[in-house]
Amino acid sequence: MEKLAIPLPARRSELVSWSSGKKGAYLVRNRRTGETFQVGEQEHFLLEHLDGQQNGEQLSDAFATRFVQPLLADELAEFLELAAQRGFFQAEGTAVPTPPLDPGPSLAQQRLGVHSLLKRIAATLLSVAAAVLRWLALWLQRARLRIRLLRLIRLEFVPRPDDIFIVTYPRSGTTWMQMILYQLTTDGSMDIPHIAEYCPWFERSLRSGRAFETRPSPRLFKSHLPYQKIPKGPGKYIYVAREGKDVAVSYYHLYRMYQGYAGTFAEFFEQFMSGKVQFGSWFRHVRGWWEHGRDPNVLFLTYEELTRDLESCIRKVSDFCGLYVPSERLPGIVARCSFNFMKKHEAQFDPTMETLWEEGVQLNSFLRSGRVGEGKTHLSSEQEARFSRAFRQQLEPTGCSWPVPGGSTTAARVG
Ligand code: A3P
Repeated sequence: MEKLAIPLPARRSELVSWSSGKKGAYLVRNRRTGETFQVGEQEHFLLEHLDGQQNGEQLSDAFATRFVQPLLADELAEFLELAAQRGFFQAEGTAVPTPPLDPGPSLAQQRLGVHSLLKRIAATLLSVAAAVLRWLALWLQRARLRIRLLRLIRLEFVPRPDDIFIVTYPRSGTTWMQMILYQLTTDGSMDIPHIAEYCPWFERSLRSGRAFETRPSPRLFKSHLPYQKIPKGPGKYIYVAREGKDVAVSYYHLYRMYQGYAGTFAEFFEQFMSGKVQFGSWFRHVRGWWEHGRDPNVLFLTYEELTRDLESCIRKVSDFCGLYVPSERLPGIVARCSFNFMKKHEAQFDPTMETLWEEGVQLNSFLRSGRVGEGKTHLSSEQEARFSRAFRQQLEPTGCSWPVPGGSTTAARVG
């Protein structure tokens, strides 16, 4: 085969090309002059290889490999002449390596590009739709809670003069005050499923509404409602406030442990400061109740006071609520309201347990009885026969029998 060992000109760096959409046809654009030409596949190939690096011999080898036919000298000369006429080459002596003849997107690629753009738009639309749905679900949930609360306050809840509301911003000592009042109003036995049985969460309890009517007096309620929203009745309101920074820390831990919050404390703190947490701004909550702290039916206490002198706080509470408590009971009540005692009975104060209990789960029933043979006493004869049939079909063929011979816990093979 004839070799073409001649130097070759370099194509202009301003040339770009792309497939015209017709098989084997390309469009070459000279960005310097703005002209566009249509060329065939072989011309395009040659132009692509005129990058200032290859001589005629190398080009001819590459051509033969690509098209399985030789590149003849006069064909190359003809191509070079035509390309020169179209102004495809750099001026002589200025030949420097040119950037690849960047083939612009082919039609297929353009279609692919459009396709992936459409996919991206669809994905964006879907994620926007998902965000809108999430927002809507949250909005609906909040609206449902608001409506439930309105119905509860306006239609269902009939206040009684001896009702006692324990009101707090979350993490301010609500549970502590629930325990104090539970101790003051009962014999204080801890044989209870959950503190919520005696002191339900007014605005959230699933057993709220008319079920409150069946509760014996004095009814105890816990609430996180701001002053403006709490139902105003002849009853008593004990508000417990806690230093805001301590609340923020305690609230952050609650968010992390119970609500899967993954942010840092700094992030949570920002939310807390701008009131973008459940139950809103601590400042507004405390201010609302502080302004009514001297109302005759409001007792404004602080978590810090409870920590400093629990016994006198308990006395204040019992006097305020008009509860007679023999003085000999007081030390026992103080002991039961200590952090350590309550910690030992934590499950009875835990909000997750409260939810389960509200939903009807019987608490403390997981480690149930731990005895052998209860199956026999609980199953009817039909159930027992059905079980035996299934055992014969599914386990006996493997050689397994019950009780396992030798009392081993590992099923022994018979025969
Ligand atoms: P920390 O998270 O700082 O420990 P609430 O019941 O309003 O959610 O408040 C919870 C906070 O009150 C928690 O604070 C909890 O430990 C604290 N608390 C509950 N019972 C307490 C008690 N007997 N003595 C001291 N703090 C108590």
